[in-house]
Amino acid sequence: MRLTYTSDVWWKNAVVYCLDVETFKDGNDDGVGDFRGLTQQIDYLAGLGVTCLWLMPFFPTPNRDDGYDITDFYTIDPRLGTLGDFVEFMRTAHDRGLRVIADLVVNHTSDQHPWFKEARSGKDSPRRDWYVWSDTPEPDDPKQIVFPDKEDSIWEYDEGSGQYYLHSFYRHQPDLNVGNPEVRDEITRILGFWMELGLSGFRVDAVPFLIENVNPKLAEPHEFLADLRAFMTRRMGGAILLGEVNVPYEELVKFFGDGLGDQITMCFDFIGMQKAWLSMARNDATPLADALRERPAPPKDCQWAVFLRNHDELTLDKLTDEERQEVFDAFGPSEDMQIFGRGLRRRLPTMLGGDLRRIKMAYSLLFSLPGTPVIFYGEEIGMGENLDEEGRMAVRVPMQWTSDGGFSRAEPVREIPEGSFAPDRVNAADQKRDTHSLLRWFQLLIERYRECPELAWGECTVLDAGHPAVLAHRCDADGATVVVAHNLCDTARDVELTLTGLEGYQLTDLLVDGAVEVPEKGTVRLPLDPHGTRWLRASPPKIAPEDASVKSH
Ligand code: GLC
Repeated sequence: MRLTYTSDVWWKNAVVYCLDVETFKDGNDDGVGDFRGLTQQIDYLAGLGVTCLWLMPFFPTPNRDDGYDITDFYTIDPRLGTLGDFVEFMRTAHDRGLRVIADLVVNHTSDQHPWFKEARSGKDSPRRDWYVWSDTPEPDDPKQIVFPDKEDSIWEYDEGSGQYYLHSFYRHQPDLNVGNPEVRDEITRILGFWMELGLSGFRVDAVPFLIENVNPKLAEPHEFLADLRAFMTRRMGGAILLGEVNVPYEELVKFFGDGLGDQITMCFDFIGMQKAWLSMARNDATPLADALRERPAPPKDCQWAVFLRNHDELTLDKLTDEERQEVFDAFGPSEDMQIFGRGLRRRLPTMLGGDLRRIKMAYSLLFSLPGTPVIFYGEEIGMGENLDEEGRMAVRVPMQWTSDGGFSRAEPVREIPEGSFAPDRVNAADQKRDTHSLLRWFQLLIERYRECPELAWGECTVLDAGHPAVLAHRCDADGATVVVAHNLCDTARDVELTLTGLEGYQLTDLLVDGAVEVPEKGTVRLPLDPHGTRWLRASPPKIAPEDASVKSH
Protein backbone atom coordinates (compact mmCIF):
# COMPACT_ATOMS: atom_id res chain seq x y z
CA MET A 1 0.00 0.00 0.00
CA ARG A 2 1.31 3.42 -0.87
CA LEU A 3 1.30 5.61 2.16
CA THR A 4 1.16 9.12 0.80
CA TYR A 5 -2.22 10.16 2.16
CA THR A 6 -2.61 7.86 5.12
CA SER A 7 -0.46 9.93 7.47
CA ASP A 8 1.17 6.79 8.84
CA VAL A 9 4.43 8.54 8.10
CA TRP A 10 3.00 11.95 8.85
CA TRP A 11 6.39 13.59 9.37
CA LYS A 12 7.35 13.10 5.72
CA ASN A 13 5.27 16.09 4.69
CA ALA A 14 4.49 17.80 7.97
CA VAL A 15 4.80 21.56 8.42
CA VAL A 16 6.58 22.08 11.73
CA TYR A 17 6.14 25.34 13.66
CA CYS A 18 8.65 26.02 16.44
CA LEU A 19 7.59 28.30 19.27
CA ASP A 20 8.57 29.20 22.78
CA VAL A 21 5.60 29.18 25.17
CA GLU A 22 7.28 32.01 27.07
CA THR A 23 7.20 34.45 24.14
CA PHE A 24 4.06 33.36 22.29
CA LYS A 25 1.05 34.59 24.25
CA ASP A 26 0.47 35.64 27.84
CA GLY A 27 -2.80 34.20 29.15
CA ASN A 28 -2.67 35.47 32.74
CA ASP A 29 -1.42 39.03 32.38
CA ASP A 30 1.93 38.64 34.11
CA GLY A 31 4.07 39.54 31.11
CA VAL A 32 5.23 35.95 30.49
CA GLY A 33 3.76 33.72 27.79
CA ASP A 34 2.10 30.55 29.08
CA PHE A 35 0.15 27.44 28.12
CA ARG A 36 -3.19 29.18 28.61
CA GLY A 37 -2.19 31.89 26.17
CA LEU A 38 -0.88 29.36 23.68
CA THR A 39 -4.12 27.37 23.92
CA GLN A 40 -6.07 30.51 22.97
CA GLN A 41 -3.99 30.80 19.82
CA ILE A 42 -4.36 27.23 18.56
CA ASP A 43 -6.97 28.26 16.02
CA TYR A 44 -4.53 30.78 14.57
CA LEU A 45 -1.96 28.00 14.14
CA ALA A 46 -4.48 25.57 12.70
CA GLY A 47 -5.66 28.32 10.33
CA LEU A 48 -2.11 28.94 9.21
CA GLY A 49 -2.06 25.30 8.18
CA VAL A 50 0.91 24.03 10.16
CA THR A 51 0.55 20.41 11.21
CA CYS A 52 3.01 19.98 14.06
CA LEU A 53 4.11 22.29 16.87
CA TRP A 54 7.62 22.04 18.26
CA LEU A 55 7.74 23.54 21.74
CA MET A 56 11.04 24.88 22.98
CA PRO A 57 11.88 23.76 26.55
CA PHE A 58 9.03 24.44 29.00
CA PHE A 59 10.52 22.80 32.09
CA PRO A 60 11.59 24.34 35.41
CA THR A 61 14.84 26.18 34.85
CA PRO A 62 17.06 28.87 36.34
CA ASN A 63 16.85 30.27 32.80
CA ARG A 64 20.51 30.88 32.22
CA ASP A 65 20.20 29.40 28.72
CA ASP A 66 16.58 30.29 27.99
CA GLY A 67 15.29 27.00 29.38
CA TYR A 68 17.93 24.74 27.80
CA ASP A 69 19.18 24.34 31.38
CA ILE A 70 16.63 22.12 33.08
CA THR A 71 16.14 21.34 36.77
CA ASP A 72 13.20 18.91 36.46
CA PHE A 73 12.30 16.94 33.34
CA TYR A 74 8.91 15.82 34.65
CA THR A 75 6.94 19.00 35.04
CA ILE A 76 6.23 22.49 33.71
CA ASP A 77 8.06 25.70 34.53
CA PRO A 78 5.59 27.33 36.98
CA ARG A 79 5.93 30.63 35.11
CA LEU A 80 4.36 28.93 32.06
CA GLY A 81 1.51 27.17 33.85
CA THR A 82 0.75 23.82 35.39
CA LEU A 83 0.66 20.25 34.14
CA GLY A 84 -3.11 20.74 34.07
CA ASP A 85 -2.71 23.66 31.65
CA PHE A 86 -0.38 21.53 29.55
CA VAL A 87 -2.92 18.73 29.27
CA GLU A 88 -5.67 21.19 28.28
CA PHE A 89 -3.36 22.60 25.65
CA MET A 90 -2.59 19.11 24.30
CA ARG A 91 -6.26 18.27 24.13
CA THR A 92 -7.00 21.45 22.19
CA ALA A 93 -4.09 20.94 19.80
CA HIS A 94 -5.17 17.38 19.06
CA ASP A 95 -8.74 18.52 18.61
CA ARG A 96 -7.58 20.86 15.82
CA GLY A 97 -5.52 18.09 14.24
CA LEU A 98 -2.14 19.39 15.38
CA ARG A 99 0.61 17.11 16.61
CA VAL A 100 3.02 18.37 19.24
CA ILE A 101 6.69 17.59 19.81
CA ALA A 102 8.99 19.10 22.43
CA ASP A 103 12.65 19.79 22.89
CA LEU A 104 14.46 16.90 24.52
CA VAL A 105 17.49 18.44 26.18
CA VAL A 106 19.31 15.52 27.78
CA ASN A 107 22.89 16.09 26.78
CA HIS A 108 23.10 18.07 30.01
CA THR A 109 21.12 19.40 32.93
CA SER A 110 21.30 22.67 34.80
CA ASP A 111 23.95 22.68 37.53
CA GLN A 112 20.97 23.41 39.80
CA HIS A 113 19.32 20.07 38.96
CA PRO A 114 19.03 17.93 42.13
CA TRP A 115 20.89 15.15 40.26
CA PHE A 116 23.93 17.35 39.78
CA LYS A 117 23.78 18.76 43.28
CA GLU A 118 23.85 15.21 44.57
CA ALA A 119 26.55 14.12 42.12
CA ARG A 120 28.88 16.96 43.10
CA SER A 121 28.36 16.35 46.83
CA GLY A 122 31.32 13.96 46.81
CA LYS A 123 33.21 11.37 44.81
CA ASP A 124 31.24 8.59 46.53
CA SER A 125 27.83 10.02 45.75
CA PRO A 126 25.58 7.36 44.20
CA ARG A 127 24.83 9.88 41.46
CA ARG A 128 28.49 10.71 40.81
CA ASP A 129 28.57 8.64 37.66
CA TRP A 130 25.51 10.37 36.20
CA TYR A 131 27.87 13.09 35.00
CA VAL A 132 31.30 13.01 33.38
CA TRP A 133 34.26 13.60 35.73
CA SER A 134 37.99 13.70 35.25
CA ASP A 135 41.11 14.31 37.37
CA THR A 136 43.14 15.28 34.33
CA PRO A 137 41.04 16.37 31.38
CA GLU A 138 42.53 16.37 27.91
CA PRO A 139 43.63 19.85 26.77
CA ASP A 140 40.81 21.72 25.03
CA ASP A 141 40.47 21.73 21.29
CA PRO A 142 39.13 25.22 20.42
CA LYS A 143 36.79 23.62 17.87
CA GLN A 144 34.94 21.94 20.74
CA ILE A 145 33.99 25.20 22.40
CA VAL A 146 30.40 25.94 21.35
CA PHE A 147 30.05 29.34 23.02
CA PRO A 148 33.52 30.90 22.61
CA ASP A 149 32.30 34.28 23.88
CA LYS A 150 31.58 32.82 27.31
CA GLU A 151 33.67 29.67 27.75
CA ASP A 152 37.28 28.76 27.06
CA SER A 153 37.15 25.14 28.14
CA ILE A 154 34.67 22.28 28.16
CA TRP A 155 35.91 21.25 31.62
CA GLU A 156 35.17 23.03 34.88
CA TYR A 157 36.93 22.36 38.16
CA ASP A 158 34.52 21.52 40.97
CA GLU A 159 36.18 22.80 44.17
CA GLY A 160 33.94 20.85 46.50
CA SER A 161 34.62 17.40 45.12
CA GLY A 162 38.05 17.99 43.63
CA GLN A 163 37.51 16.88 40.04
CA TYR A 164 36.67 18.46 36.70
CA TYR A 165 33.25 17.94 35.10
CA LEU A 166 32.47 18.03 31.41
CA HIS A 167 30.19 20.69 29.96
CA SER A 168 29.89 20.77 26.18
CA PHE A 169 27.94 24.04 26.45
CA TYR A 170 27.97 26.60 29.29
CA ARG A 171 29.72 25.68 32.53
CA HIS A 172 26.34 25.74 34.26
CA GLN A 173 25.21 22.87 31.98
CA PRO A 174 27.10 19.74 33.12
CA ASP A 175 26.92 16.89 30.58
CA LEU A 176 24.96 13.82 31.60
CA ASN A 177 26.86 10.56 31.25
CA VAL A 178 24.79 8.47 28.86
CA GLY A 179 27.47 5.78 29.17
CA ASN A 180 25.74 4.98 32.47
CA PRO A 181 22.79 2.59 31.96
CA GLU A 182 20.89 4.28 34.80
CA VAL A 183 21.04 7.59 32.93
CA ARG A 184 19.89 5.92 29.72
CA ASP A 185 16.95 4.39 31.57
CA GLU A 186 16.04 7.74 33.06
CA ILE A 187 16.13 9.42 29.64
CA THR A 188 13.86 6.71 28.29
CA ARG A 189 11.49 7.30 31.20
CA ILE A 190 11.35 11.01 30.33
CA LEU A 191 10.35 10.16 26.77
CA GLY A 192 7.75 7.71 28.02
CA PHE A 193 6.30 10.27 30.43
CA TRP A 194 5.69 12.97 27.84
CA MET A 195 4.47 10.53 25.20
CA GLU A 196 1.91 9.34 27.72
CA LEU A 197 0.79 12.97 27.97
CA GLY A 198 0.32 13.08 24.22
CA LEU A 199 3.58 14.21 22.60
CA SER A 200 4.25 12.74 19.15
CA GLY A 201 8.00 12.95 19.52
CA PHE A 202 10.94 15.15 20.33
CA ARG A 203 13.35 17.59 18.81
CA VAL A 204 16.58 16.18 20.15
CA ASP A 205 18.97 18.88 21.24
CA ALA A 206 22.67 18.61 20.42
CA VAL A 207 22.61 14.98 19.26
CA PRO A 208 26.30 14.45 18.40
CA PHE A 209 27.32 15.81 21.83
CA LEU A 210 24.81 13.54 23.51
CA ILE A 211 26.32 10.34 22.23
CA GLU A 212 29.95 11.31 21.89
CA ASN A 213 31.20 12.96 25.07
CA VAL A 214 30.44 10.10 27.39
CA ASN A 215 32.33 8.37 30.13
CA PRO A 216 33.23 5.58 29.69
CA LYS A 217 32.98 5.86 25.94
CA LEU A 218 29.92 4.07 24.64
CA ALA A 219 31.08 1.01 22.72
CA GLU A 220 28.38 1.64 20.15
CA PRO A 221 27.24 5.27 20.55
CA HIS A 222 24.56 4.95 17.89
CA GLU A 223 22.99 1.99 19.62
CA PHE A 224 21.60 4.36 22.23
CA LEU A 225 19.73 6.33 19.57
CA ALA A 226 18.39 3.11 18.06
CA ASP A 227 17.28 1.96 21.53
CA LEU A 228 15.45 5.22 22.15
CA ARG A 229 13.71 5.05 18.79
CA ALA A 230 12.75 1.39 19.30
CA PHE A 231 11.29 2.24 22.70
CA MET A 232 9.23 5.05 21.20
CA THR A 233 7.98 2.97 18.32
CA ARG A 234 6.94 0.17 20.67
CA ARG A 235 4.84 2.64 22.62
CA MET A 236 3.55 4.75 19.72
CA GLY A 237 4.10 3.77 16.09
CA GLY A 238 4.19 7.30 14.72
CA ALA A 239 6.47 8.90 17.30
CA ILE A 240 9.48 10.70 15.88
CA LEU A 241 12.88 12.09 16.75
CA LEU A 242 13.84 15.31 14.98
CA GLY A 243 17.56 15.71 15.42
CA GLU A 244 19.80 18.73 15.74
CA VAL A 245 22.77 17.16 13.97
CA ASN A 246 25.02 19.80 12.46
CA VAL A 247 27.73 17.60 10.90
CA PRO A 248 28.85 16.99 7.30
CA TYR A 249 26.53 14.80 5.17
CA GLU A 250 28.86 11.78 5.21
CA GLU A 251 28.73 11.63 9.01
CA LEU A 252 25.12 12.64 9.19
CA VAL A 253 23.76 9.53 7.49
CA LYS A 254 24.91 7.52 10.53
CA PHE A 255 22.43 9.44 12.66
CA PHE A 256 19.54 8.27 10.49
CA GLY A 257 20.88 4.78 11.21
CA ASP A 258 23.12 4.04 8.22
CA GLY A 259 20.56 2.99 5.66
CA LEU A 260 18.42 1.25 8.28
CA GLY A 261 16.55 4.39 9.27
CA ASP A 262 16.13 3.16 12.83
CA GLN A 263 17.60 6.14 14.73
CA ILE A 264 16.79 9.81 14.18
CA THR A 265 13.64 10.07 12.05
CA MET A 266 14.39 13.52 10.67
CA CYS A 267 17.63 15.47 10.65
CA PHE A 268 17.84 19.20 10.04
CA ASP A 269 19.64 20.02 6.82
CA PHE A 270 22.17 22.49 8.24
CA ILE A 271 24.35 22.29 5.13
CA GLY A 272 21.50 23.01 2.70
CA MET A 273 20.41 25.89 4.92
CA GLN A 274 23.86 27.50 4.90
CA LYS A 275 24.22 27.03 1.15
CA ALA A 276 20.79 28.60 0.64
CA TRP A 277 22.02 31.71 2.45
CA LEU A 278 25.22 31.74 0.40
CA SER A 279 23.11 31.47 -2.74
CA MET A 280 20.92 34.36 -1.63
CA ALA A 281 24.00 36.46 -0.79
CA ARG A 282 25.40 35.84 -4.26
CA ASN A 283 22.11 35.83 -6.18
CA ASP A 284 23.47 32.60 -7.56
CA ALA A 285 21.66 29.32 -7.06
CA THR A 286 24.74 27.17 -7.67
CA PRO A 287 25.79 26.54 -4.01
CA LEU A 288 22.26 25.44 -3.09
CA ALA A 289 21.88 23.37 -6.26
CA ASP A 290 25.18 21.62 -5.49
CA ALA A 291 24.09 20.92 -1.91
CA LEU A 292 20.82 19.42 -3.15
CA ARG A 293 22.71 17.18 -5.54
CA GLU A 294 25.20 16.10 -2.84
CA ARG A 295 22.64 15.57 -0.11
CA PRO A 296 22.18 11.84 0.52
CA ALA A 297 18.68 10.45 0.16
CA PRO A 298 17.28 9.73 3.63
CA PRO A 299 16.50 6.08 4.37
CA LYS A 300 12.92 5.00 3.69
CA ASP A 301 10.57 6.55 6.25
CA CYS A 302 13.22 9.09 7.32
CA GLN A 303 13.19 12.67 6.12
CA TRP A 304 15.19 15.89 5.88
CA ALA A 305 13.91 18.82 7.91
CA VAL A 306 14.50 22.01 5.92
CA PHE A 307 14.69 25.46 7.44
CA LEU A 308 16.10 28.92 6.87
CA ARG A 309 16.07 30.26 10.41
CA ASN A 310 15.66 28.88 13.90
CA HIS A 311 15.84 30.06 17.51
CA ASP A 312 19.65 30.07 17.52
CA GLU A 313 22.07 32.19 15.54
CA LEU A 314 22.08 31.64 11.79
CA THR A 315 25.10 29.42 11.95
CA LEU A 316 27.47 29.60 8.99
CA ASP A 317 29.99 27.21 10.46
CA LYS A 318 30.07 24.88 7.46
CA LEU A 319 31.02 27.60 4.97
CA THR A 320 34.60 28.60 4.23
CA ASP A 321 35.86 31.81 5.86
CA GLU A 322 35.46 33.68 2.56
CA GLU A 323 31.94 32.36 1.98
CA ARG A 324 30.91 33.24 5.53
CA GLN A 325 32.25 36.75 5.01
CA GLU A 326 30.13 37.08 1.86
CA VAL A 327 27.00 36.21 3.86
CA PHE A 328 28.05 38.59 6.66
CA ASP A 329 28.62 41.39 4.12
CA ALA A 330 25.24 40.82 2.50
CA PHE A 331 23.05 40.16 5.52
CA GLY A 332 24.79 41.17 8.72
CA PRO A 333 27.60 43.64 8.10
CA SER A 334 27.75 45.27 11.51
CA GLU A 335 29.48 43.54 14.38
CA ASP A 336 26.49 43.56 16.73
CA MET A 337 24.59 41.41 14.20
CA GLN A 338 27.31 38.76 14.31
CA ILE A 339 27.93 36.21 17.01
CA PHE A 340 30.53 33.60 17.96
CA GLY A 341 32.48 34.59 14.81
CA ARG A 342 30.35 32.11 12.88
CA GLY A 343 26.76 33.32 12.76
CA LEU A 344 24.17 36.07 12.63
CA ARG A 345 21.67 36.89 15.36
CA ARG A 346 19.01 38.14 12.99
CA ARG A 347 15.70 37.07 11.57
CA LEU A 348 15.18 36.54 7.85
CA PRO A 349 13.06 39.61 6.93
CA THR A 350 15.55 42.12 8.33
CA MET A 351 18.40 40.30 6.61
CA LEU A 352 16.54 40.63 3.32
CA GLY A 353 16.09 44.34 3.97
CA GLY A 354 12.33 44.04 4.44
CA ASP A 355 11.94 43.47 0.68
CA LEU A 356 8.60 41.63 0.59
CA ARG A 357 9.13 40.16 -2.89
CA ARG A 358 12.45 38.69 -1.84
CA ILE A 359 11.11 37.46 1.49
CA LYS A 360 8.21 35.74 -0.27
CA MET A 361 10.64 34.15 -2.73
CA ALA A 362 12.83 32.85 0.12
CA TYR A 363 9.91 31.12 1.84
CA SER A 364 8.54 29.79 -1.42
CA LEU A 365 11.96 28.25 -1.95
CA LEU A 366 11.90 26.77 1.55
CA PHE A 367 8.51 25.13 1.07
CA SER A 368 9.47 23.74 -2.31
CA LEU A 369 12.73 22.13 -1.22
CA PRO A 370 12.52 18.37 -0.81
CA GLY A 371 11.89 17.66 2.87
CA THR A 372 9.73 18.78 5.75
CA PRO A 373 9.75 22.55 6.33
CA VAL A 374 10.33 23.86 9.84
CA ILE A 375 9.50 27.47 10.60
CA PHE A 376 10.18 29.62 13.64
CA TYR A 377 7.24 31.54 15.14
CA GLY A 378 6.75 35.00 13.69
CA GLU A 379 8.41 34.08 10.39
CA GLU A 380 4.94 33.88 8.84
CA ILE A 381 4.37 37.58 9.50
CA GLY A 382 7.94 38.70 8.84
CA MET A 383 9.01 39.68 12.35
CA GLY A 384 12.42 41.24 12.90
CA GLU A 385 14.92 40.82 15.72
CA ASN A 386 15.81 43.03 18.66
CA LEU A 387 19.56 43.55 18.73
CA ASP A 388 19.32 45.14 22.19
CA GLU A 389 18.70 41.68 23.63
CA GLU A 390 21.74 39.65 24.63
CA GLY A 391 23.30 37.18 22.17
CA ARG A 392 20.95 34.67 20.59
CA MET A 393 18.00 36.13 22.52
CA ALA A 394 17.81 38.83 19.81
CA VAL A 395 15.59 36.61 17.65
CA ARG A 396 13.41 35.32 20.51
CA VAL A 397 11.18 38.37 20.67
CA PRO A 398 7.51 38.32 21.77
CA MET A 399 5.04 37.29 19.06
CA GLN A 400 3.40 40.30 17.43
CA TRP A 401 -0.35 39.72 17.36
CA THR A 402 -1.75 43.22 16.94
CA SER A 403 -0.61 46.75 16.17
CA ASP A 404 0.04 47.42 19.85
CA GLY A 405 1.83 44.11 20.36
CA GLY A 406 -0.95 41.98 21.74
CA PHE A 407 1.46 39.55 23.40
CA SER A 408 0.55 40.60 26.94
CA ARG A 409 -1.64 43.11 28.68
CA ALA A 410 1.18 43.60 31.20
CA GLU A 411 4.70 44.84 30.58
CA PRO A 412 6.26 41.95 28.61
CA VAL A 413 9.34 40.24 30.06
CA ARG A 414 11.13 40.80 26.82
CA GLU A 415 11.19 44.04 24.96
CA ILE A 416 9.18 44.46 21.79
CA PRO A 417 11.29 45.55 18.79
CA GLU A 418 10.98 49.16 17.68
CA GLY A 419 11.30 50.75 14.25
CA SER A 420 10.19 49.36 10.93
CA PHE A 421 9.59 45.87 12.30
CA ALA A 422 7.65 47.05 15.37
CA PRO A 423 4.13 45.65 15.94
CA ASP A 424 2.42 48.69 14.40
CA ARG A 425 4.11 47.73 11.10
CA VAL A 426 4.28 43.95 11.47
CA ASN A 427 1.47 42.03 13.15
CA ALA A 428 -0.81 39.06 12.57
CA ALA A 429 -4.14 40.88 12.84
CA ASP A 430 -3.41 43.34 10.01
CA GLN A 431 -1.94 40.65 7.79
CA LYS A 432 -5.03 38.47 8.13
CA ARG A 433 -7.05 41.26 6.50
CA ASP A 434 -4.54 41.89 3.72
CA THR A 435 -4.66 39.37 0.86
CA HIS A 436 -1.16 40.38 -0.28
CA SER A 437 0.44 39.91 3.11
CA LEU A 438 3.23 37.52 4.00
CA LEU A 439 0.84 35.66 6.31
CA ARG A 440 -1.52 34.97 3.39
CA TRP A 441 1.45 33.90 1.30
CA PHE A 442 2.46 31.40 4.01
CA GLN A 443 -1.09 30.04 4.13
CA LEU A 444 -1.01 29.51 0.37
CA LEU A 445 2.44 27.93 0.40
CA ILE A 446 1.46 25.57 3.20
CA GLU A 447 -1.79 24.61 1.48
CA ARG A 448 0.02 23.93 -1.78
CA TYR A 449 2.86 22.09 -0.09
CA ARG A 450 0.33 19.78 1.57
CA GLU A 451 -1.48 19.26 -1.73
CA CYS A 452 1.76 18.36 -3.50
CA PRO A 453 3.24 15.44 -1.60
CA GLU A 454 5.63 15.01 -4.54
CA LEU A 455 7.65 17.88 -3.08
CA ALA A 456 8.24 16.05 0.17
CA TRP A 457 8.22 12.46 -1.00
CA GLY A 458 9.26 12.55 -4.59
CA GLU A 459 12.52 12.15 -6.38
CA CYS A 460 14.00 15.60 -6.72
CA THR A 461 16.02 16.53 -9.80
CA VAL A 462 17.77 19.87 -10.06
CA LEU A 463 17.24 21.16 -13.61
CA ASP A 464 19.57 23.18 -15.76
CA ALA A 465 17.89 26.59 -15.80
CA GLY A 466 20.52 28.13 -18.05
CA HIS A 467 20.88 31.07 -15.69
CA PRO A 468 22.85 30.94 -12.42
CA ALA A 469 20.34 33.13 -10.57
CA VAL A 470 17.55 30.61 -11.06
CA LEU A 471 17.05 27.41 -9.13
CA ALA A 472 14.74 25.06 -10.98
CA HIS A 473 13.86 21.57 -9.88
CA ARG A 474 11.25 18.93 -10.44
CA CYS A 475 9.83 16.42 -8.01
CA ASP A 476 8.38 13.18 -9.33
CA ALA A 477 6.41 10.59 -7.41
CA ASP A 478 4.15 7.83 -8.65
CA GLY A 479 3.80 9.32 -12.11
CA ALA A 480 2.96 12.81 -10.83
CA THR A 481 5.26 15.81 -11.22
CA VAL A 482 5.66 19.29 -9.82
CA VAL A 483 8.12 21.69 -11.48
CA VAL A 484 9.43 24.60 -9.48
CA ALA A 485 11.55 27.65 -10.35
CA HIS A 486 12.88 30.49 -8.20
CA ASN A 487 14.60 33.62 -9.38
CA LEU A 488 17.14 34.72 -6.78
CA CYS A 489 17.92 38.05 -8.43
CA ASP A 490 15.93 41.26 -8.70
CA THR A 491 15.71 41.41 -12.47
CA ALA A 492 13.25 39.41 -14.56
CA ARG A 493 14.56 36.24 -16.19
CA ASP A 494 13.27 33.97 -18.90
CA VAL A 495 14.45 30.43 -18.40
CA GLU A 496 14.27 27.41 -20.65
CA LEU A 497 13.73 24.07 -18.99
CA THR A 498 13.92 20.69 -20.63
CA LEU A 499 11.30 18.47 -19.06
CA THR A 500 11.90 14.93 -20.18
CA GLY A 501 8.76 12.83 -20.22
CA LEU A 502 6.45 15.83 -19.97
CA GLU A 503 6.29 16.61 -23.70
CA GLY A 504 2.83 17.93 -24.54
CA TYR A 505 1.88 18.26 -20.86
CA GLN A 506 0.15 21.27 -19.42
CA LEU A 507 1.93 23.10 -16.59
CA THR A 508 -0.55 24.85 -14.30
CA ASP A 509 0.60 27.55 -11.90
CA LEU A 510 -0.24 26.72 -8.32
CA LEU A 511 0.59 30.08 -6.71
CA VAL A 512 -0.84 32.49 -9.26
CA ASP A 513 -3.17 32.22 -12.25
CA GLY A 514 -1.54 30.87 -15.34
CA ALA A 515 -0.64 27.85 -17.39
CA VAL A 516 1.81 26.95 -20.10
CA GLU A 517 2.08 23.96 -22.38
CA VAL A 518 5.30 21.98 -22.75
CA PRO A 519 6.03 21.87 -26.50
CA GLU A 520 6.51 18.46 -28.18
CA LYS A 521 10.28 18.90 -28.16
CA GLY A 522 10.14 19.08 -24.35
CA THR A 523 11.76 22.48 -23.76
CA VAL A 524 9.53 25.08 -22.16
CA ARG A 525 10.16 28.78 -21.79
CA LEU A 526 9.22 30.21 -18.39
CA PRO A 527 9.25 33.92 -17.65
CA LEU A 528 10.14 34.77 -14.07
CA ASP A 529 9.56 38.13 -12.41
CA PRO A 530 12.30 39.75 -10.28
CA HIS A 531 12.52 37.38 -7.30
CA GLY A 532 9.73 35.50 -9.04
CA THR A 533 8.63 32.01 -8.14
CA ARG A 534 6.63 29.40 -10.05
CA TRP A 535 5.19 26.15 -8.76
CA LEU A 536 3.75 24.19 -11.66
CA ARG A 537 1.70 21.04 -11.64
CA ALA A 538 2.23 18.92 -14.75
CA SER A 539 -0.88 17.29 -16.14
CA PRO A 540 -1.18 15.10 -19.22
CA PRO A 541 -3.49 16.40 -21.98
CA LYS A 542 -7.17 15.87 -21.10
CA ILE A 543 -6.56 15.34 -17.41
CA ALA A 544 -7.52 18.19 -15.11
CA PRO A 545 -4.50 19.51 -13.17
CA GLU A 546 -6.19 18.80 -9.87
CA ASP A 547 -6.51 15.14 -10.87
CA ALA A 548 -2.86 14.83 -11.81
CA SER A 549 -1.30 14.73 -8.34
CA VAL A 550 -0.11 11.67 -6.44
CA LYS A 551 -3.02 9.40 -5.61
CA SER A 552 -3.50 7.17 -2.60
CA HIS A 553 -3.90 3.46 -3.13
C1 GLC B 1 21.18 23.61 21.22
C2 GLC B 1 20.06 24.62 21.26
C3 GLC B 1 20.58 25.88 21.89
C4 GLC B 1 21.08 25.57 23.30
C5 GLC B 1 22.11 24.45 23.26
C6 GLC B 1 22.40 23.92 24.63
O1 GLC B 1 22.19 23.98 20.37
O2 GLC B 1 19.53 24.82 19.97
O3 GLC B 1 19.62 26.88 21.92
O4 GLC B 1 21.67 26.69 23.87
O5 GLC B 1 21.66 23.35 22.50
O6 GLC B 1 21.30 23.18 25.11
